[in-house]
Amino acid sequence: MYKLNENYLKLPGSYLFSAIGKKVSAYSAANPDKKIIRLGIGDVTQPLVPAIIQALHGAVDEMGKAETFRGYAPDLGYEFLRKAIAENDYEARGCEIAADEIFISDGAKCDSGNIQEIFSTDNRIAVCDPVYPVYVDSNVMAGRAGEYDKFRETWSNVIYMPCTAANGFAPELPDETPDLIYLCFPNNPTGAAVTRQQLQKWVDYACRVGAVIIYDAAYEAYISEPDIPHSIYECKGARNCAIELRSFSKNAGFTGVRLGFTVVPRDLKCGDVALHSLWARRHGTKYNGAPYIVQRAGEAVYSQEGKAQLKEQVAYYMNNASYIYHGLKEAGYTVSGGINAPYIWLKTPDGLTSWEFFDRLLENVNVVGTPGSGFGPSGEGYFRLTAFGSYENTVEAVDRIRRM
Ligand SMILES: Cc1ncc(COP(=O)(O)O)c(C=O)c1O
Repeated sequence: MYKLNENYLKLPGSYLFSAIGKKVSAYSAANPDKKIIRLGIGDVTQPLVPAIIQALHGAVDEMGKAETFRGYAPDLGYEFLRKAIAENDYEARGCEIAADEIFISDGAKCDSGNIQEIFSTDNRIAVCDPVYPVYVDSNVMAGRAGEYDKFRETWSNVIYMPCTAANGFAPELPDETPDLIYLCFPNNPTGAAVTRQQLQKWVDYACRVGAVIIYDAAYEAYISEPDIPHSIYECKGARNCAIELRSFSKNAGFTGVRLGFTVVPRDLKCGDVALHSLWARRHGTKYNGAPYIVQRAGEAVYSQEGKAQLKEQVAYYMNNASYIYHGLKEAGYTVSGGINAPYIWLKTPDGLTSWEFFDRLLENVNVVGTPGSGFGPSGEGYFRLTAFGSYENTVEAVDRIRRM
């Protein structure tokens, strides 16, 4: 008789967004006349910009002709895209990252879930609390998280680094020493960012204790302040201790197109073994490459027109962020984020729990957000709103909340 991977059975409840989806569907079915505004899930709403659409059309036409047809993509990604990334995302920022240290994928969710596979199950992970749930859940599935404490909502073998108002939502170095440290800045869900100096402290720490930082920079395009690093490789020594994850979802609207990449510098070694070779082996065995058409669309992100059009798109969402931030602040809410990230993190009023505030917003003003407690115990009493809606919906949602 076969057996299951029992680690899956340890996972509590359903994935946060499925739980929200179920609540919203039930409310909607019972109240079909209500117009619900969704500022919950971090999905974009604006269409792909013209430079990307043009690249997609061009690549589709190439696929229709024998001379330009392409089959399997190289497992690590097409050279044209890896070069464009190396030049624009790294060289232009003074970071030393070569094209062959970049692994193209179909998005940062898969990479952030899969990267743990190249590490021993004995490793201890450290995560921010609150946290993007994929980091923890993928380690639970792999058997690295220990046992779940349903009262504390924590895993016995995970080191939690609380990100609270008291520390400006930036984690402090943990008391216990981790092997793998997941950091995400600008942060989902809190919208907080760390300065280059703060991040350097983490790089120095990881190098000192022999840990690897898995740095998720999915929201890098939303940085507006000069001393916030766009990449961990802006820090000295990061080539020896950090893997960086990037996504085309939020900077270019690829949530439905799917494209991302992971950087594994060749200097990152465990003894004599380069992590680069392990990730290349994993990628080569389990992944058959992002589609040619999509990689050409990714290349267009770095064209002159693409860059200009995407700058406007990011500005559109950040204008929403500013509307939410200022609108709620004026209404007396305690808010943060929204300056270097498309997320606004607000303290729930009247001592409500995150889910109580979720229900109050859904039932009273038909606005959907994300309960902070769904991202970890330190998220309790907080609530996340995203700037990824349309401007009109964002304004209406904020005005409804203000009138509540
Ligand atoms: C921190 C973080 N990493 C990764 C992702 C997923 O990115 P992708 O769409 O590239 O899979 C998200 C999506 O919301 C995210 O918030």
